[in-house]
Amino acid sequence: MIHGIKGVKDLLPEEAARWQVIEETARRLSFLYGYREIRVPIFESTELFARSIGASTDIVEKEMYTFQDRDGSSLTLRPEATAGVARAYIEHNLGASATAQKFFYLGPMFRHERPQAGRLRQFHQYGVESFGSASPLADVEVVSLLWRVLSELHLPGLTLEINSLGDVADRPAYKGVLLDFLKRQEEQLCQNCRRRMGTNPLRVLDCKVPTCKAATEEAPKLTDHLSLNSRQHFEEVLGGLKELGIPYLLNPRLVRGLDYYTLTTFEVTSQHLGAQNAVGAGGRYDGLVEALGGPKTPAIGFAVGIERASLVLPDSAVPSLGKMVFVAAFGQKGVPVGTRILHELRTLGVRSDSDYRATTLKAHLRQADRLGAVFVLIIGDDEAEKGQVILRNMTSKEQQDLPLSTAAQSVASRLSSV
Ligand code: HAM
Repeated sequence: MIHGIKGVKDLLPEEAARWQVIEETARRLSFLYGYREIRVPIFESTELFARSIGASTDIVEKEMYTFQDRDGSSLTLRPEATAGVARAYIEHNLGASATAQKFFYLGPMFRHERPQAGRLRQFHQYGVESFGSASPLADVEVVSLLWRVLSELHLPGLTLEINSLGDVADRPAYKGVLLDFLKRQEEQLCQNCRRRMGTNPLRVLDCKVPTCKAATEEAPKLTDHLSLNSRQHFEEVLGGLKELGIPYLLNPRLVRGLDYYTLTTFEVTSQHLGAQNAVGAGGRYDGLVEALGGPKTPAIGFAVGIERASLVLPDSAVPSLGKMVFVAAFGQKGVPVGTRILHELRTLGVRSDSDYRATTLKAHLRQADRLGAVFVLIIGDDEAEKGQVILRNMTSKEQQDLPLSTAAQSVASRLSSV
């Protein structure tokens, strides 16, 4: 037997129903906030991700599914979608439009991580990207959309954490101060962090190793080293969130695992998830479009992990399947009549089914019960000859005869009253 791949999950119908709730809510609210759907490819040139996400990030260093195409070029399964959306924005010259360019997407992403609850190698994201506005109001809009989606799904125990990484010009001064601090703590840091002190010291603040976390507890805060403009931007974002009644927690260590961020970064966690507790996260990336060869374009977005949202989605948020009618047809004359009625019901938009293997009434009724049918239409040879069907109410067990010609219509109208 061939097994599925580690960290790559099948989505069986029960869980698919949970995903549909999340996806429907995401689509509906994205439209409501003026975002339109974009679909970008699942694989792109490796360089796109290396340049966008950053060469010294975990994702690029060790988590990408990279392979060689037949012509020798290096391709990568997308580990996230922001890079692809930014590339499409540049390639299709979408910045030339007079209206704001705001997109949402849903789809699979791929990262070679160690699988555990809520962490997969193929996982799915709902995300949004808003291009063109440097205003703190754009930050407030994006964060409030994220908060609205997660709240409307009734995900329990949510906390929104927020930070500012300053703009590119703020970094060098802070990096110097941080490096001085890290050098004093070097003994306590893991090999990886020691190496990163030379490449990208900010990444050390994102290290999950407990000794590194402890050693950097007192690290100088980026928010204490912001330029006047960055500080003002951050304050306006926080003010806007307060205005909308969105609760947040300042987290000066929130540097995020991708290098393209500038200014605002944020993450929403659920205390009902285990170690992998981030349901959604994002931030501003004002330098990315330009770094990829496009015009200078401010931008901000977020992505939600669908698997993680589904893990904490309350059962009550998933609607029941809807009423179903079962057609129990048997006998040489009964079966063709039953097939026609089934077709009529479906034409009328009534969710209906039958079991082509069942040959007795008893077997049919058992299946109808399993499927949770509210009504069963029984048609044997006798009924077919008389031009009738028997309607059985599965709750009250009452039965009555109906004329064949109007049976489907009559069941359809009864359904709305049970
Ligand atoms: P990210 O923080 O890497 O950001 O991922 C966003 C969310 O995707 C996480 O909060 C988590 O819920 C989910 N996720 C990430 N990795 C996994 C995994 N291995 N298994 C299951 N779920 C996972 C980004 O991807 C950015 N592109 C977000 C963004 C959009 N920033 C600006 N625009």
